[in-house]
Amino acid sequence: MNAPQDRPLRVVQVGAGAMGRAWVGALKRSPDTELVGIVDLDPEVATSLLRDEGLDEVRRGADLGALLEELRPDAVVNVTVPNAHLPVNVQALRAGVPVLCEKPAAPDVASAFRQAAAAEAHGHLLMISQSRRYFDGFAALIGSRDSLGQIGSLSIQFSKAPHFGGFREEMAHVLLVDMAVHQFDAARLLLDREPIAVYAEEYNPAWSWFRADANASAIFEFEGGVRFTYVGSWCSPGLETSWNGDWRLSGSGGTATWDGEAAVTIGIGDGVEAVDLASAPEQIDGSLAEFVAALRSGATPSTNARSNVTSLAMVEAAVRSSETGQRVTIADLLAQGLESAVAQESDPVTLRVLSAWRDNDG
Ligand SMILES: NC(=O)c1ccc[n+]([C@@H]2O[C@H](COP(=O)([O-])OP(=O)(O)OC[C@H]3O[C@@H](n4cnc5c(N)ncnc54)[C@H](O)[C@@H]3O)[C@@H](O)[C@H]2O)c1
Repeated sequence: MNAPQDRPLRVVQVGAGAMGRAWVGALKRSPDTELVGIVDLDPEVATSLLRDEGLDEVRRGADLGALLEELRPDAVVNVTVPNAHLPVNVQALRAGVPVLCEKPAAPDVASAFRQAAAAEAHGHLLMISQSRRYFDGFAALIGSRDSLGQIGSLSIQFSKAPHFGGFREEMAHVLLVDMAVHQFDAARLLLDREPIAVYAEEYNPAWSWFRADANASAIFEFEGGVRFTYVGSWCSPGLETSWNGDWRLSGSGGTATWDGEAAVTIGIGDGVEAVDLASAPEQIDGSLAEFVAALRSGATPSTNARSNVTSLAMVEAAVRSSETGQRVTIADLLAQGLESAVAQESDPVTLRVLSAWRDNDG
């Protein structure tokens, strides 16, 4: 059954950390949603967030099951850490509630398959929020694609020098796992085709303040022989790019560039033209708008969990390539992830979906 059209959707948010604050803001800004409950393992964090936002009346607690039972919301927004995405998503889906979950979908492809299969098994939407799909400049770049003729290559240069502190400065594969997933996913949307294979290297410059892997370079082959080249760094002070990076899309008839902010330029022959941007909700506001529209219409959103597995597979394949020095085939990695998901899954209904996917893909 589609979500109601005549009132805002009642939402329970899980996770009240740094990004949880941003999501409470988005839920408040949207005329289509009402935050009715918030869950965090640390109820104090939830209480102080609600106090800061002037939302003292919103229910809060540490027990998602109890709050779902009490509030019977229309949707859950999951802003927990990646390790908690699968259990939280599955608990909500089993309770009959659709979920919008922060990226990365899960820590590994097998877990991403399991939650996508749980969504199908229980008949409710699980959408992954890839907020960097929603920029007016990016929409203009996509709009320019068809005027470039046959597409040959996409390149992204990403250079920043952030001092985050905390877990990012300690984790392995930090740039690929925590940041590049955004650009890999957006590249799929822009190219409108799927990745075939990747060769990647990660390294840490001598001056890095990250424990490992603050820099990475990857070359993806996409369907039709298109190449997507990513060159990224989190230790590159001076002349930094935007948070989306510098994009260059090249085809038989011309080239389009995007600076990751508002400047989109098309060059065809000797002509150079700045592209006018439309105005739509950006970043998590855009993601929330697509989620609400999908719930109300029954349409499948562009980042539904099943499709998004391939974006996560791009990251996992790049990490594997960097570890082994080998070119990694995405189809092989997906097949192995599905096999692991089947081996790990204990819910019989979800297992049936996973087995069907494996048998059809195999
Ligand atoms: N879209 C973006 O640009 C963007 C930016 C930053 C973070 N993120 C993503 O948002 C998510 C959260 O990141 P963050 O920086 O807010 O992390 P965080 O560590 O600041 O906050 C996570 C919160 O989740 C809570 N939590 C963990 N497990 C839980 C569980 N099982 N049930 C209830 N609460 C639980 C923690 O207590 C914590 O308060 C991650 O997936 C991250 O990758 C996205």
